[in-house]
Amino acid sequence: MEVLQTSALPLGYVAPPFVTRFYLRCRQPQGRTTTLGGELEEQEFRDVMARLAASVVVISARTDRGFRGLTATSFVSISTEPPMVLVGLERMTITFNVSVLTRSQEFIAERFAGRAPAVAGAWSDVPHHLGANGLPLIDGCAAWLECKLAQVHQAGDHDICVGGVEAATKGDGEPLILWDRSFWSLR
Ligand SMILES: Cc1cc2nc3c(=O)[nH]c(=O)nc-3n(C[C@H](O)[C@H](O)[C@H](O)COP(=O)(O)O)c2cc1C
Repeated sequence: MEVLQTSALPLGYVAPPFVTRFYLRCRQPQGRTTTLGGELEEQEFRDVMARLAASVVVISARTDRGFRGLTATSFVSISTEPPMVLVGLERMTITFNVSVLTRSQEFIAERFAGRAPAVAGAWSDVPHHLGANGLPLIDGCAAWLECKLAQVHQAGDHDICVGGVEAATKGDGEPLILWDRSFWSLR
């Protein structure tokens, strides 16, 4: 499998600086396990987590100010019976849709990460349609899910939002991958 980088844009969303206190056990290349104790700087934590490859999705929801989209990489499936997914969000929302972006949709990831130039009406120039629940689904994606919030668990500065999947549709195209702060695709 050939892996191609689609962009060299530095990635990683910026949150207020904080210091995380926890202990990290890591295995050395030689097989030795060491324990790093004490304070872990936010940047160190970000640098380690940047080594994790993840699919890029856009979460869409309705807010007081209309539809909102948010680029996320914390989206995973968690249960098949019943079908459930989870995503870490700064603010929880009752119903949300998920559009799994493809390699050609980097600009949409940038847009909904708040990094593209400001355009009036976040959704006005993003091709989309509405799901059965009335929330936006981005056209041309690798997959789409419509979810209803089932559980919320507080986790640091984010909420773990568990959603029951009410509709799931397969699309075409290669997924957009985030790894090492850059966008990649599988071939
Ligand atoms: C690659 C990437 C992944 C992200 N993943 C998440 C995530 O999983 N959960 C989250 O709440 N924010 C995530 N964010 C941050 C939000 O996309 C971003 O903070 C938010 O959309 C800011 O937009 P605003 O300025 O319009 O509020 C991610 C950002 C990027 C660039």
